[in-house]
Parts: sequence; structure tokens; C-alpha cells
Amino acid sequence: MPITETIPALDLASIRAQFPALTQTVNGHPAVFFDGPGGTQVPERVIDAISGYLRRDNANSGGAYATSRRTDAMIAEARAAMADFLHCLADEVMFGLNMTALTYAMSRAIGRELKPGDEIVVTRLDHDANVSPWLAMAEERGVTVRWAEIHDEDCTLDMADLAAKINSKTKLVAAGYASNAVGTINPVKEIVRLAHAAGALAYIDAVHYGPHGLIDVAALDCDFLVCSTYKFFGPHLGVLFGKRDHLTRMRPYKVRPLTEAIPFRWEFGTLNHECIAGITAAVEYFADLGRQTEPCRDSRLGCPPSAARALTRRTAIEAAHQAIHEHERVLLERMMTGLQQIPKLKIYGITDPTRFAERCSTLAVRMEDGNPEHQPLPLATKLGERGFFTWDGNYYALNLTEHLDVEKTGGFLRIGLVHYNTLEEVDRFLAALREIVRA
Ligand SMILES: Cc1ncc(COP(=O)(O)O)c(C=O)c1O
Repeated sequence: MPITETIPALDLASIRAQFPALTQTVNGHPAVFFDGPGGTQVPERVIDAISGYLRRDNANSGGAYATSRRTDAMIAEARAAMADFLHCLADEVMFGLNMTALTYAMSRAIGRELKPGDEIVVTRLDHDANVSPWLAMAEERGVTVRWAEIHDEDCTLDMADLAAKINSKTKLVAAGYASNAVGTINPVKEIVRLAHAAGALAYIDAVHYGPHGLIDVAALDCDFLVCSTYKFFGPHLGVLFGKRDHLTRMRPYKVRPLTEAIPFRWEFGTLNHECIAGITAAVEYFADLGRQTEPCRDSRLGCPPSAARALTRRTAIEAAHQAIHEHERVLLERMMTGLQQIPKLKIYGITDPTRFAERCSTLAVRMEDGNPEHQPLPLATKLGERGFFTWDGNYYALNLTEHLDVEKTGGFLRIGLVHYNTLEEVDRFLAALREIVRA
């Protein structure tokens, strides 16, 4: 099946042509990138922006000369781009090494405001980067940690339990937007509401959600939200949103010469400028995707290109996510149906298509046939030899794999579908997996 035959929402041939990495082969097989949850591929424009910065503008920031001024302007542009992506103000956007480093820094600063007897809530479903920094802070400050549990049968957050763990002593609720292991999308708006009702801060990890759904921090009303651009077609960097009031009131651990102005007081040392240059290009990639799909959505007869260009960047990003969502949904349905037909294959998380709004297109599976050759690592290795890039293990969702008692036997095999994947890839993957497990 040609890639153009997939789903009307997206022009897959033109999308894939923008990602040079997608043309690779492994042992003569076309490479199939189902490793998006670990990091997505980047379009040519991101590569160009990074190398272009190093060629023309490479300098430290804050200097009174041309390349330094261009560097400052480039960082400001990237901040504005991320503000459109997240729906916030540009001075509420901070750049850092990655989500984990940003969260450690923010957890220490938040900890300065806490005292023994205060409480925080973390979840069993989260990636450890939204757990361990809070555990460390709690240990240092004498703060009590409460865990929100999950429903084992579908790997969704137990919202009644979460609500019960929040009380008048709760100062912070740390929760994920989507699980990087089993794909569950949490009711984040409700989590923020519960936190705020108790006077607590809400810290949201949107790293896994970023490539799959529209993030709107204004609508969520969260206090902090963190994501990583390398998960949504950009460079290896982390981005943190914080409400202005918090960024102004709270005290970062910072060097004295660094300005007290927000957001800069939260950005420590020299940033990764070349990668920040790639962020604007990644956001523009989304916006162009939206500009191309939106007119067609309005009218099957098509719209003049000028109508597409009239969209604001934020509106274009919204349109892109709508189209991405439709495409991923079709991929997910096909993958789920195929996986369900493989005997002794257990699928973790939501499997009922009528509930697919509660999940994204990341699947965790295990063969339950007792064959050690079918554990996640040997399976991922055999698939990898045929060009299928999946992942095995816990992907740092350690609390989940321990809770479900799969940690000692290799965790899960994770299949991550993003919008540049095709139905043809899904079909070929299912055929290869069936052959490997002889189903
Ligand atoms: C859900 C989730 N949170 C946090 C992280 C950590 O992100 P980073 O690598 O930017 O520190 C990851 C990385 O895989 C993730 O999937």
C-alpha cells in the first residue's frame, strides 16, 4: 500500500519527505521508527536551523556586537514560538538541558517554600523524572509523600484515590499528561482543579503528550508544565512553563550576576543556543502542517493558499494537532486490532476503541507464552534486526513496571506511533511480529 493511501487528514508523502532519517534501511529493510516515545526524528528545517545558527550567529548572549545580538533575537523568537505552542506568555517559558534537569531545579526551588508536615502527591503512572526529584526534595525538607494509585486493569489513574490523597496539607501535585509506557492520557484539568481546591501547586509532565495532543496551559490553569522538544520533532532540550507570579515570587538557586528578571533568572549558565534555534523550526513545522490541513478541512474543494497563511501560528498549531490526532487514531486502531489477534500477547492500558480519547498511540505489550525468547528485549532485538525500532524495559516508568510486576522479567515491549508513521508500516510490523512469535 503506498503511503499516500493512508488517511486523508495528512499528506504523508510530503510529510515524510521532510524527515531525512526516515529513508534509512537496516539489513536491507526500510527503517520503521516506532521509537517516538524515546525521541522523534526531525524535519530538515530543524537541522538547517541548528547548523545555520552555528554557521552565522554562534555567540554568547548579551554582548554588544552583531552575532551576540542575533543570538539574543533568536532566543526571543524561540521563546515566542514555545509560548504559541503552549499558549502562554513568552516570559513564562524557560529553556534547559531536558525535562529531568528542569524538574530537579524547580523541585529544589519549590522545596524552599515547604516545611516539615507539608505533603506532596505523586503518581504510580508517572515517568520517574516527575517522581524522583519530588522524593529527594521531600526527604530534604521533611515533607510527606503520598502516592496516587492506578486501576491495574486499564492502567488509568485512580482519580478517586488521587482526590483522597489531596488534603489541606498538600502543597504540590505532580502528575503526567500522558504515560510514556502505556499511553494513558490523564484528566489533567481535573487534577489541576483538585490541586488548586486544596491550595496546592500543580506540576504537569507533558513530555509524552507533546507530539500527540494540543497543550493549552491557559485552559489547564496549571502552575508549571514541562516538556522536551526532542519528543516533538525538535532538538534535545527541555522547556518549562511557569506562571509569572510563581517565577517572580519563588527564589531560584542562581549565580549572583544573573539578572533577577523572569524568565532569565531560571535559566542557569549558557544555554544550548544551536538547539534553541531548532525549536522555532520545530514549532513552525507544526504550524505549517496545520496551515496545509486546515483549508482542506473547511472545504473539500480546497482553499487558496492565502487562506492557509492567514491562520495565526497558534491556530495553525491547533489545526495540526487535530489532523495528527485523526491520523494517529487510525494507526492506533489498526495496530490494536492486529495485536489483539496474536495469541498470548497481553496489551497493557486501554484497549477499547470507544475509550481511545483517553489514550494516545503508544502501546505496551508482553508475550505471556513463557518463552524467554519472547521477552521484551529479545523481541525488540529481533524486530530491530528487521528494521523495526521499538523499545523494551521500563523507559523510567519504573513505579508502573514494579507495580504491575513486570520489571524483573524485562518490562514491556513499547510500540510508539507518531504522525509520520503509516498504515503500511503498521501492517508490516504486525506481520513481522507474528512471524517472530510464530502466531
Ligand atoms: C513522560 C516523560 N517524562 C519525562 C521524561 C524525561 O525527559 P527528559 O529526557 O527531557 O529529561 C521522559 C523521557 O522519556 C518521558 O517520557
